[in-house]
This record gives sequence, structure tokens and C-alpha cells, in this order.
Amino acid sequence: MIDQLNALKLEIDQAVGKATDADALLQVEVKYLGRKGQLTSVLKGLAEVDEASRPKIGSLANRIKQDAERDIASKRKEFQDASLSDLGDRERDDVTEPGIRPPEGHLHLVTQAIREITSIFEKIGFTRTRYPEVDWDWYAFESLNMPPDHPARDEWETFFLDAPASKKGKMVLTPHTSNAQVRELERGEFPVRMINIAKCYRRQSDATHVPMFHQFEGLYVDKGVSIAHLRGVLDYFAKSFFGPERKTRLRPFHFRFTEPSFEIDVSCGVCGGTGILKDKQKCRVCKRGWLELGGAGMVHPNVLKAGKVDPKKYSGFAFGWGVERTYMMKEGMQIDDIRILYKNDLRFLKQF
Ligand code: FA5
Repeated sequence: MIDQLNALKLEIDQAVGKATDADALLQVEVKYLGRKGQLTSVLKGLAEVDEASRPKIGSLANRIKQDAERDIASKRKEFQDASLSDLGDRERDDVTEPGIRPPEGHLHLVTQAIREITSIFEKIGFTRTRYPEVDWDWYAFESLNMPPDHPARDEWETFFLDAPASKKGKMVLTPHTSNAQVRELERGEFPVRMINIAKCYRRQSDATHVPMFHQFEGLYVDKGVSIAHLRGVLDYFAKSFFGPERKTRLRPFHFRFTEPSFEIDVSCGVCGGTGILKDKQKCRVCKRGWLELGGAGMVHPNVLKAGKVDPKKYSGFAFGWGVERTYMMKEGMQIDDIRILYKNDLRFLKQF
């Protein structure tokens, strides 16, 4: 009987050890300790054991029962703890919980404007070029029909570099993108259809001026280019960039490097080009229905000559406008101080 009990103990220990979950453990418990369980039956049968061996066998059977109950209880606790900690992990990794978005940046609105302008001109055969943003006086002024000491230069409020001068004069931070004109003509490939977008620098800072800004410069030179071509390109750009209902107009102006020269205006998108709002108030955005876009004109013969192009054979037009100012004229922009574009204020920049 004692051997039988020891064998049963071994069996119970192995069964408890093998149980891999709470259900398997319950089955072990029922099999050995349940009402009809194997150990319970032994205990029930103690009455038939002879009186002399009964205390020894009874105490062994009871010890085996207590050990088995203790082992089963402790294993059950292990399973419970494990399942609670599983639940804890699952709660931490709740896949339905909304995630935390990493901060997402976007292109600066001037870069967005540059890309849009480039794509509009590329559709009509213009190629984006890149010319120096630090250049010789020759390209920035002299080749553009502005000899040294000419008063017209004053308009460009230029930064000169403290660098040795060359045959092409002093070095400047380009005050406009027109330095690209003669550089592009020097390539000698026709037709010239250039859109040069670059940084420009002037000693200016107020609500409509920043010391570093961008211009986009168009140049079209070929045989037989006329003001009609200029008008067509201007209208195409204004309608593509501002909207199909916008119109352009040419106002006589003066630049040393174009003849004739114009200021280009675009009709105001807020008052529809009338200068008067629906409530009969004067439009606060424009001057009598028009907004100034920038300069343009037919390339001056002296500029063609400076670029080694024969003005008797070739003619062309050029225009140069500010990227920031042009973008600010888009409908609904309402930017009343250009300097905000470069203040890195995320509350402003995030809106675009
Ligand atoms: C010029 O710079 C001429 N080179 C344009 C040109 C090119 C005329 C080709 C004819 C043929 P202007 O100085 O007006 O022109 O400048 C052109 C545009 O640059 C302005 O209309 C404005 O939109 C922008 N601009 C000029 N200065 C600033 C500034 N400090 N901050 C922001 N935008 C500016």
C-alpha cells in the first residue's frame, strides 16, 4: 500500500508539472483529488486497512494530499499571474488606441511658390536656369546698360562684397535676377526661353520689402519676338497662377535694360478689378482694381549686344517679378507684412 501511495505521489507530481494551463490543472485536480479521484479513493479505503498499519498509511496519504493541494494551488496562482500580466501587456499595446503623430513638416510656402511658377512656365517651353547669386557688377549692372555711376543703379540698393575686383568689376550680392540675361545670351543657343529663379538682396526692410527675397526672371529671345508674345505669356501666367478670371495690363515705365519698358499689373481678385467692394466701400487690397506684379519690356539692343547677339536679327522680351510679392497677391492670402514669411513662426507657416 505504501509503495502504491508513493507511486501515486510521483504520478501526481508529474501531472501537476506537465499541466500547461488552468484547464489542464483542473483536470489533474479532479483526477486525483476529486470526489471520485484516485487519492480520495485511497483515503476512503483506509477503514479497511488493518489497524496496525492504518496510522502510517493514513498519515502518508494525508501528506500526499496536502502536498498535491499546495502544489496545485501554487501552480494555479502562477497561471493567474501570467494571464494578468498578459492582459497588462495587451492594454499597453492596444492597437485600437489612436497613435501619436510624429511632427510632420512641409515645404516652405516660398518653395511651394517657386515650384508652382516653374511648372507653369515649363508647360510653355521655358527652362528653369540657375545663375550665380553672387555676381560681377558687369552682369548685374553694366551689361544691362547701366554704366558705372549711372543714377539708375541707385534703385537696386546693392550690397557690394569686400572682394578683389576683376575685369568685370566688383562683386555684388545679386540685387535682381536680371544678371541671368547676358549670361544666358552668352550661351548662344536659340530660341532662348529661360525662367531664372534666384535669391536677390537689397538694403531694404519694411512691410513690403525684405533684404533677401526671390525673383523669377523670364527671357525669350528669338527672331521676330514682339510685345504681342509678351502679352500672351503674361496673360497665360496670370490666369494659371491667380485664376482664369484675372487679367493683366501694361503700364509704360522705364528700365535701362528694356525698351519699351512696362510695369505689369494684374486685376485684383478681391474686388474683381473694379476697385469697389460689394458694400460700395473702396477695396483695401488694390489701387483702383489693379495690383502691381513687376517689371517687363523688350530687351534693349545694348543688352543683346553685350550678350553677343545681333539686335538686327534677334529680338526678345524679359520680365522680372518678386516670388514673395506675387504669392502674396494670390486670392485669400491676406499677408499684410512680407517679413512674416521669414520669421520662422510655425503658427503662420503651418497654415500652408
Ligand atoms: C527689377 O528688379 C527688374 N530687374 C525687373 C525687370 C526684369 C524689368 C526684366 C524688366 C525686365 P524691380 O526693382 O521693380 O525690378 O523689382 C521687381 C520685383 O521684385 C518687384 O516688383 C517686387 O515684386 C520684387 N522686389 C523688389 N525688391 C523687393 C524686396 N526688397 N523685397 C521683396 N520683393 C522685392
